[in-house]
Amino acid sequence: MPSDLSPIDKAKFVAAKKAVEFVEDGMRVGLGTGSTAAWMVRCLGELVREEGLKIRGVPTSTRTAQLARDVGIEVISLDAAKWLDLTIDGADEFDADLNLIKGGGGALLQEKIVATASDQMIVISDVSKEVETLGAFPLPVEVIPFGWQTTQALIEETLVSMDVMGRSASLRMNGDSPFVTDEGNHILDLHLKRIGDSRQMAMILNQMPGVVENGLFIDICDRVVIGYGDGKVEVRDINAGTIEENMVDFVENDNLFTDLTD
Ligand code: A5P
Repeated sequence: MPSDLSPIDKAKFVAAKKAVEFVEDGMRVGLGTGSTAAWMVRCLGELVREEGLKIRGVPTSTRTAQLARDVGIEVISLDAAKWLDLTIDGADEFDADLNLIKGGGGALLQEKIVATASDQMIVISDVSKEVETLGAFPLPVEVIPFGWQTTQALIEETLVSMDVMGRSASLRMNGDSPFVTDEGNHILDLHLKRIGDSRQMAMILNQMPGVVENGLFIDICDRVVIGYGDGKVEVRDINAGTIEENMVDFVENDNLFTDLTD
């Protein structure tokens, strides 16, 4: 394992390396967004180049699309794929039921569309993302720019009657300007600290006119692959109710470890 990787990066890498073992020849694969998903795209690219793996990838952001092309993965649109065999993506939080908070990287809308259009979703993560109750990570909500302050006020007003520990929302910024998603929207981060009923929260948020989508992924994820800094990986399958542990062995590979930015 390269010595200059931090333990967190090693954990993300081994989770990604293990998860790509679930990818088979001919699959249409949803490619997630974020630093953990970037490792997965690199690992898949290596399998394509070195072992002739034949897959088509549907990226969940422009930056993942660029990386996938760079590493040699054939990129197609979701409309061309129609349906996917498997999506592999990171998460900001996951609980024991494998419900998730996603969207820390701002790609939650495409990520949710792609994951929902997949037979299976695998989340790759280091152990720090596991929580008993979702909500410590601010919940990203994608809103249309028109009237976003009114939407923010409506959300904050609605939160008053909900089982949460914080009720403020902030507009995500990119320097001095509002952050703009790949779909041209803004993101409100909800500082809830603890979400008592995440299923109810997801439904209520999506009923508001200015809300496009929220970052709660409920009943979407099938497996989580948790990586550790020492190379251990744990695979939890929510449908089978199984937990497996392995060690991931690998040799340093310049193609994988150089110029990784995300
Ligand atoms: C992107 O919008 C997110 O949903 C990411 O999947 C999530 O933020 C995890 O990112 P990292 O792997 O960089 O922690």
